[in-house]
Amino acid sequence: MTARDFIPPVYTTNVEKGSVTWESPSNIALVKYWGKKQDQIPENPSISFTLNHCKTMTTLEFSKKGDLEHFEFEVYLDGEKKDDFKPKIQTFLERVEVYLPFLKQYRFIIKTENTFPHSSGIASSASGMSALALCLMSVEKQLINSDVIISAVEEDLDDEYFNQKASFLARLGSGSACRSIEGDLIVWGKTKSIEGSTDLFGIKYPYKVHENFKEYQDTILLVDKGEKQVSSTVGHNLMHNHPYAQIRFEQAHQNLESLKGILESGDLDAFNAIVESEALTLHAMMMTSMPYFILMKPNTLEIINKIWEFRQKTGLHISFTLDAGANVHVLYPNKESQEILQFIQSELVAYCQNGHYICDQIGFGANQIQF
Ligand code: PMV
Repeated sequence: MTARDFIPPVYTTNVEKGSVTWESPSNIALVKYWGKKQDQIPENPSISFTLNHCKTMTTLEFSKKGDLEHFEFEVYLDGEKKDDFKPKIQTFLERVEVYLPFLKQYRFIIKTENTFPHSSGIASSASGMSALALCLMSVEKQLINSDVIISAVEEDLDDEYFNQKASFLARLGSGSACRSIEGDLIVWGKTKSIEGSTDLFGIKYPYKVHENFKEYQDTILLVDKGEKQVSSTVGHNLMHNHPYAQIRFEQAHQNLESLKGILESGDLDAFNAIVESEALTLHAMMMTSMPYFILMKPNTLEIINKIWEFRQKTGLHISFTLDAGANVHVLYPNKESQEILQFIQSELVAYCQNGHYICDQIGFGANQIQF
């Protein structure tokens, strides 16, 4: 498949106006995407758990307009007009216009809200961009829809194309957003050990997954809710000419290949080793960039050390991962939740800003709320 496959046929249906709503989750990478080429093509493959509770809900209202020269849209977050979101969305619309040629024919109102607090330090770009991409796909579906009754097989193919293109578009908004359309494990980036993997969009992990990973828990400890000092766009770019870049990209392929066996066998110790090494490697890349930077905070390290101590003492299968920030994602199997959650509450929450944390778990992707 190539990007050209996402250029649609001529639209056959005239739709004057309408409104669609999607909710889409965030995701947490186990093997990290860090480093990209033009158009958010990743330098290495990644795999993520889709989350269940951390979501963005977006309603897209659209109505035909006369001028076909410009994009016209307004953005609201929690009912408040957000003009500072516009440049990012303008860039996104410019990037995807060739794949959604109806964009300049409509005036859009984008109304969005997150289930997690805006200033939680949790990136809303994955859930936000995927929700917007899905809304745009629903508009396109109306423009293509014919009244011809299609078979169940054709309908499945239709759904597959819909999800692939939604993921492809989300990727052009924010790379990791392409992993939020479906669940529960999503691979993005071409790698030889995963059949069907592609740089263009996320695919559902296609192999057997052991029971141990069903309903896997992710408790997100909000260590620092402030704005990041270095954006992920800047961070990705610092991987160009990074002295360790090539070996890091190679390592990601190897880690994904190893993870394949681990996901099948259910080996939780081996899982924890890969996931933690990936988190620390991501931050090591940041610390060895030029200019270098550190996104972890003292409390991030306190939590990591506490987790290691507790794991050593109890033999329970608790581990951590990090995204591009100071917050810690504490991962553990559902069957050990009782003891681990107790430990989190009694020992780790003290390191969170205002004691805030979010209990989430592995989820199954986006849902359409309004058709
Ligand atoms: O999607 P971006 O450009 O915000 O990059 C996100 C990168 C990490 O969250 C650090 C890792 C990942 O794979 O999600």
